[in-house]
This record gives sequence, structure tokens and C-alpha cells, in this order.
Amino acid sequence: MGKDVIIACDFASAEQTFAFLDKFTGEKPFVKIGMELFYAEGPSIVREIKARGHRIFLDLKLHDIPNTVKKSMAVLSNLDVDICNLHAGGTIPMMEAALEGLTRPDGTRPLLIAVTQLTSTDQQHMEDDLWIHAPMADVVMHYAENAKKAGLDGVVCSPLEAKKVHDRCGSGFLTVTPGVRFADGEKGDQKRVMTPAQAKEIGSDYIVVGRPITAADDPVAAYRRCVNEFVD
Ligand code: C5P
Repeated sequence: MGKDVIIACDFASAEQTFAFLDKFTGEKPFVKIGMELFYAEGPSIVREIKARGHRIFLDLKLHDIPNTVKKSMAVLSNLDVDICNLHAGGTIPMMEAALEGLTRPDGTRPLLIAVTQLTSTDQQHMEDDLWIHAPMADVVMHYAENAKKAGLDGVVCSPLEAKKVHDRCGSGFLTVTPGVRFADGEKGDQKRVMTPAQAKEIGSDYIVVGRPITAADDPVAAYRRCVNEFVD
């Protein structure tokens, strides 16, 4: 898979999601389904979106004992999603078990990427709550290297970290980056943002874009603008 724009479908119901996807008559964007929609609608939402011809990044961020993650990943693999994820904090044995669970009898599997430290966790909380006493940037890189060691395909990271991840883990190690905004757009609650063109420049493999597309007056035009800036 090459560079692409993934639309974060952060909707609360299937009805809202399909009302949104119905606007796309000429193309089938890659979509991200998160916990809210998955827990509201169950696996049928994944099957329905897949049946409409979209590729799917199922963003459920698994984190449990290796055996539980392995079995759960086998279920997600059967849903025929294209990308799944987990927390690198679950350790290398958990990530290795996840890969085993994802791999189908014919050897194929969805891509598997790791969340390093959530961007909502700051240095203070990492030290006080998690008792991790290293600089955040080093922790993020260490977790990315662990994901690579475990055999994963890449990480979710800020576009600002994408270059460093590629330098450390290789250019083939995928960087999937949220926090993307148009130069003339609202930043909303995202603090460290980049435009699609800057994300391309810095080497992101996939950008995850939510509100700049989902809340736009013309979502299809906003999606095409992202593709033009990032892919073309
Ligand atoms: O609407 P917006 O473009 O901010 O959406 C970004 C998407 O990426 C959301 O689904 C958000 O949960 C997700 N995300 C993020 N930052 C991270 C990880 C995931 O914004 N560090």
C-alpha cells in the first residue's frame, strides 16, 4: 500500500457514518473506525463498510495479556480489515502474540501498527502516574523500536515525529499520522499540527484526517484537497 489519506469516521452511529460515506460517489476513501462507532454498532459496521469497497483502519488500540490479544486479533483479522493497532506499552511478547493472532492460515494478515505514548499523556503524567522517568521523545522512539523488534509494520505518531521514526526504524516502517490541518483551517483541540503538504514533505506514509473533512461544508472537496496535497 502506498501513501494515502485515511478519513477518521468519528461518528456515533451507522446512520451518521453512511450519510457521510454516501457523499462519496466517485471514490472509496480509506476510513478509520474507532472505539465509539465499533462499540455502538459492533462488527457489522466493519463488514458493511468493507462491503461498500472501502479499506479500513480499525483503531481499537488493544492492550491485554498476550493470549487475549492474540485471540482477539484473530477475530479482527477475520473481519478483513486492512490495518489494526495496539499499545506498544503491552510489551514485545504482547505485540508478537498479536501478530500471530492476526496471521491467517494462508499467511496473509492486516497491517499492524502500534500506539507509542498517547499524545494526551504529557511528561508530567508519564512520570507521576506511570513512573516512567525518561524524556517523552526518547520513550516514543524506544516504543517504536520495540514495535519494530516485535515485527510490527509501523506506528501511529505525530507528523513531527515521522522523520525521526524513519531514521531509527527504517523508511519501510510505516508512520501513520493524525494531527493534520489545512493551512487556512481550524486547529480545534489539536495542538501540534501539520498541513497535508508538510506531512508529505516529512515522509508520513498515511495521514489520518477527521474534522477537516467530516465537518467541512463540502467533505468530498476537502478530501480531494487532502489527496492533492498529500498524495499527488
Ligand atoms: O478530527 P481530527 O482530524 O483531529 O481527528 C484525528 C483522529 O486521529 C481522531 O480519530 C483522533 O482520535 C485520532 N488520533 C489523534 N491523535 C493521536 C492518535 C489518534 O488525533 N495521537
